[in-house]
Amino acid sequence: MPHFRTARQAFPQKTSRSRALLTPIRLRAIILVKHPDAATFRARMKIIAVANQKGGVGKTTTSVNLAACLAHLGARILLIDLDPQANATSALGFPPLEGQSVYGPLIGHGTLAEKVIPTRWPHLWLIPGDLELVGAEIEVARADDHLTRLRAAMQPLRDDAPFDFILLDCPPSLGILMTNALAAADELLIPLQCEYFALEGLGKISQVVDQIRDCGANPQLIIGGVLMTMFMRNNLATSVIGEVQTHFGEVIFKTVIPRSVRLAEAPSHGQPILEYEPTGLGTAAYKALATEFLQRHPLPSPAA
Ligand SMILES: Nc1ncnc2c1ncn2[C@@H]1O[C@H](COP(=O)(O)OP(=O)(O)O)[C@@H](O)[C@H]1O
Ligand SMILES: [Mg+2]
Repeated sequence: MPHFRTARQAFPQKTSRSRALLTPIRLRAIILVKHPDAATFRARMKIIAVANQKGGVGKTTTSVNLAACLAHLGARILLIDLDPQANATSALGFPPLEGQSVYGPLIGHGTLAEKVIPTRWPHLWLIPGDLELVGAEIEVARADDHLTRLRAAMQPLRDDAPFDFILLDCPPSLGILMTNALAAADELLIPLQCEYFALEGLGKISQVVDQIRDCGANPQLIIGGVLMTMFMRNNLATSVIGEVQTHFGEVIFKTVIPRSVRLAEAPSHGQPILEYEPTGLGTAAYKALATEFLQRHPLPSPAA
């Protein structure tokens, strides 16, 4: 009889709400148990930073809805809210939760695994954001290893790989939290609003990616995807997409997210769009994005 279940089997395939609530205890136990196939899972689990130093471009909307749609397709997802404003946390229906963010682990108190909470959706877990994260900008900045604190805190999750993907919803600044996310991630997903000024920020973020690679904090970091958001059919939006395509080619997702009032309303109901308007345009777009994302990052077969 094998002593360990695989990381994938260790999570329930279909989780009822009551079983989901038990998950942190199970998760902690699982993370502490090193699976014999951990190396295989480690190669497959991907950490994706959803980042753009510009605010209001759809980072949080994309993090929440891509996470929900990927979970709906059966991928095991951990969403980490790195923004002190905690918009992703409230968009999933959680009230402010003190002491549950990555702040503690960033300053050397506790582990990330202890901060993981289940959501009411099977396969979707969350590390919430909270206002304490503002302190990380100041406290972590003083440390010698200020760029790689999150990377180090995430290493146990990488080793045991209980998730298929970890999405990092970044705050809108080039501060400590965002640069730590870039240093911790395998890939960067850049949401870009279909407007002229979007292109200006793109040069800056590409520069920061180069710096993170060159300084040795994360030599493997790549820009894995550029996602056009809030699309409205007009000449400007079409020419912005054309311009981004000439710079980024295949990296740009074929799926474009339309501007939709429902997408803007859903967070105030604490629901991903999939639940708020299951048959709407926004849901169709984020489902298409999740499918395209999984074509780029196929899930390992459940038997693995
Ligand atoms: N596709 C969309 N259509 C309409 N409104 C959107 C769309 N995407 C995001 N929004 C709204 O735009 C605002 C900024 O989006 P958000 O995802 O919070 O951006 P960021 O995290 O980059 O600051 C929010 O009010 C959000 O509800
Ligand atoms: Mg945000």
